[in-house]
Amino acid sequence: MQPLRIGFAGAGFASKFHHRNLRGLNAVSAGVTSVRPESRAAFEKQFGVPAFDSVAAMLPHIDVLDVCTPPSSHLSYIRQAAEAGKHVIVEKPFTGFFGSPEQHGKEEMLAAVVEDCRSIRELIARTGVTFGYAENYIYAPSIQREREVLEATKAQILRMTAEESHSGSHSPFYGIWKEQGGGSLIGKGCHPLGGVLYLKRKEGLARNGKPIRPAAVSARTHSITKLPAFEDRGYLRTTYLDTEDYAMLHVIFEDGTIADVLTSELVLGGIYDYVEVFANNHRTRCLINPVRVVDLYSPNRKEFEGMELMEKISSNEGWIPASPEFGWSSGQLDEMRDFVDAIQTKRTPECDLDIAIDTTVAIYAGYLSAERKGAEVAVPQV
Ligand SMILES: NC(=O)c1ccc[n+]([C@@H]2O[C@H](COP(=O)([O-])OP(=O)(O)OC[C@H]3O[C@@H](n4cnc5c(N)ncnc54)[C@H](O)[C@@H]3O)[C@@H](O)[C@H]2O)c1
Repeated sequence: MQPLRIGFAGAGFASKFHHRNLRGLNAVSAGVTSVRPESRAAFEKQFGVPAFDSVAAMLPHIDVLDVCTPPSSHLSYIRQAAEAGKHVIVEKPFTGFFGSPEQHGKEEMLAAVVEDCRSIRELIARTGVTFGYAENYIYAPSIQREREVLEATKAQILRMTAEESHSGSHSPFYGIWKEQGGGSLIGKGCHPLGGVLYLKRKEGLARNGKPIRPAAVSARTHSITKLPAFEDRGYLRTTYLDTEDYAMLHVIFEDGTIADVLTSELVLGGIYDYVEVFANNHRTRCLINPVRVVDLYSPNRKEFEGMELMEKISSNEGWIPASPEFGWSSGQLDEMRDFVDAIQTKRTPECDLDIAIDTTVAIYAGYLSAERKGAEVAVPQV
């Protein structure tokens, strides 16, 4: 079988780890493009991947478009690729509403997002291309272990708590609604939300042959670093234009069971990512980051200057829960393996359009709930 030719839209952080994670797979990085000529040229120079001026110019040379651009451009690239008969991989968040929250209410945002999701579902069905949603939580070894437990024991999940937080993104575009489609709830919260939606789907399929979907949400969002009372000691990012830096989303599933998703830019001490499952026959703490596989003691920060022992910690001194091979523990390695195999064997990837759509729609139902100070909002079925 010929290696799958993958082309990257975007030449930044995500494209780089997607490219690296193709090693050992029956796939090649066949092209890269970016709106900034200097970033695509730098990618070509660093990795030897041919740079193209645009996605349209790259499409004839690839089998799969891997969309690793900022969220506001995801849909137009998905459309271009699918219409050209190319398979699609898209980074999180799938999509969103990219307009100012001062000019658009959350009801309008939810309706627009539902319409977009509907049109992409129709497009993927019509064109028959494979669609992979790059939500790495689903491929994290800890989440996959929990899936095995659910399937083997036909367990019922009664409640889950899940979180993705840290001290704030370094991207200058983060914090601007029209670029990101929201704040912490979409930018970070999509990860743990994707994880809990996936596990509940798997439970439903194992027990009754039918996924259990989210039915309703209640949410609160806050801008803690904007409070007049906030005392800035300089350790947290504070520059958010019109997005929240904290969100709490309470999900009620079709069977009445629940999940609570927390997400924020207010957590010191590195990345804090987990899903905890409370079931009728077991309890599992799925650690995503840190995973505590390696505890490294550094007597002096100078020993490890410039080395990333753990993401988002300011000092490399003392005991450090160092990241092992990050792509493995985060799920990013297995995610690419699954997408390549799914496309080559013509099957649906483990993380598919259903998860992408349910996550997106639940988030915007959450934004509407937050606008109504936490009132329950039904999650529309797309
Ligand atoms: N799964 C994860 O853990 C993870 C981690 C980081 C980023 N992401 C996601 O990956 C995507 C990209 O984020 P990033 O951190 O790589 O950003 P980045 O800023 O590092 O890179 C973005 C790249 O896209 C290019 N670009 C911007 N707008 C474009 C457009 N309209 N058309 C073509 N190219 C364009 C930029 O020039 C740059 O090369 C986002 O959706 C982000 O949420 C996911």
